[in-house]
Amino acid sequence: MIKFSSADIKKSKLETLVIPVCEDKNIHANRTVAALARKALAVKEFQGKAKDELTLYSPARVKCERVLFLGLGKAEAIKAETLRACMGRAIKTCIGRELTQVAVAVPTAKRMQLDEGAALEALIEGGCLANHMFSKYKSEEKQKTLKAIVFLGAPGSAAGNRKAAARIENTCAAVTQAREWVSTPANDKRPDAFARQITRAARAKGLTCRVMDEKALKREKFGAMLAVGQGSQVKPRLVVLEYRPKGVKKTVALVGKGVTFDTGGINLKSSGGLECMKMDMAGAAAVAGALLAVADLKPKVGVIGVLPLVENMPSGSATRPGDIVRSYAGKTVEIGNTDAEGRLILIDAMAWAVKKYKPTAMVDLATLTGACVIALGEKIAAVFSSDNDLAEAILAAADKTHERCWRLPLPDDYKELLKSDLADISNMSSGRWGGAITAALFLSEFVGDTRWAHIDIAGAAYTKKDGPYCRAGGTGFGVRLLCDLLTDPRII
Ligand code: BES
Ligand code: ZN
Ligand code: ZN
Repeated sequence: MIKFSSADIKKSKLETLVIPVCEDKNIHANRTVAALARKALAVKEFQGKAKDELTLYSPARVKCERVLFLGLGKAEAIKAETLRACMGRAIKTCIGRELTQVAVAVPTAKRMQLDEGAALEALIEGGCLANHMFSKYKSEEKQKTLKAIVFLGAPGSAAGNRKAAARIENTCAAVTQAREWVSTPANDKRPDAFARQITRAARAKGLTCRVMDEKALKREKFGAMLAVGQGSQVKPRLVVLEYRPKGVKKTVALVGKGVTFDTGGINLKSSGGLECMKMDMAGAAAVAGALLAVADLKPKVGVIGVLPLVENMPSGSATRPGDIVRSYAGKTVEIGNTDAEGRLILIDAMAWAVKKYKPTAMVDLATLTGACVIALGEKIAAVFSSDNDLAEAILAAADKTHERCWRLPLPDDYKELLKSDLADISNMSSGRWGGAITAALFLSEFVGDTRWAHIDIAGAAYTKKDGPYCRAGGTGFGVRLLCDLLTDPRII
């Protein structure tokens, strides 16, 4: 999909040329492009401001059917995210006009005070991610994605650019796979089916896969996870994906909450927004996506993906509030609320991962609490860790990828909110406030002394509105963040 060209735009025929334009500075080294930008800025309704847009048809001096000028605002305020969003606008406009491909005049990174590699990466990323639509369930596909995105005059060696593009395209394909899984309706991804979809994709990438079914989970005493799944006619699965290159000693375990539909169980949720609870497996989708990307990125660390998949349903066989179960780690848990099911499946998956792999670090991603959405809104995830290096590595990856995270505390004294009269711990806080924190504290009781971080993606995993380079539906949040994290020296 991504191509590079150094062809002379005065000579080559183009269907659409996109030129990003600043309001206060020329950011293009190519004279023809700069002249076209000047021409656009001479038009009254286009000033190069952040949301400005202008199309000129068949302008003189070039052989382009149309040139689309996109305002970037002030040059000094441009960030990598500005470029991702700019590509998003370009792609969306072209798809909306039923065009088939687009050529983009690459601005000079130095003129925007950006690193050359980072700027090109952001442009490619924005292009690839915006060029995805989830239209599998539309009988008549109305809009078609673009066949090619051509970068004109990208600096650096063509070979280097192609290598970077292949890496980014691969990661973005993993992001779009995660988005598709999240957007897929719950009737088409019940635990057995979702496990098959994941292993099919993972095997195609050469990853080692293993699926534990109900029988295996019973044998291995995944008591908390089985309790969550027992109300559904489709019983739980634990999917394990392994990337273990020869000669590396360290292993990172990634664990993802995979509730394929969260009705709340006997503590049934109210109907407002219930249909969105098909997204409650977004943690598992992000971890599976990250492993698909990792198979090609080949980081210098082993990576294990552990995905507990369950459907949380109310029925005659469902777990009741007040039930007490024995978790994989051996601790007993009083289920104060069947809607706090994510933490129950995670503790078994994490305790198992610690025992089986003794990972050097473990990170879990989960759409865990509504409280997280109340605290940070729909675009920012919460990070919890008692390991400062790990937390800082995650925040750095979040900054770089614009998969935004904010650190929240793990205060020891809040643990008393999880006390149970009858069992070792309750899955439900006795207090009303700080629900994202008490959920994280609950998890912390089951990871032993493993370096561990928890990322609550309840807000960021799904969007009802189109964003700059992500349409309504699953966002694939976490895939790029995890891929970046796995290259951080603080964890490898
Ligand atoms: N899956 C939900 C959390 C959630 C809420 C995700 C909104 C995405 C958007 C989770 O299983 C849940 O129901 N949590 C409860 C916990 C409570 C019962 C302690 C919550 O947040 O209300
Ligand atoms: Zn729930
Ligand atoms: Zn849930």
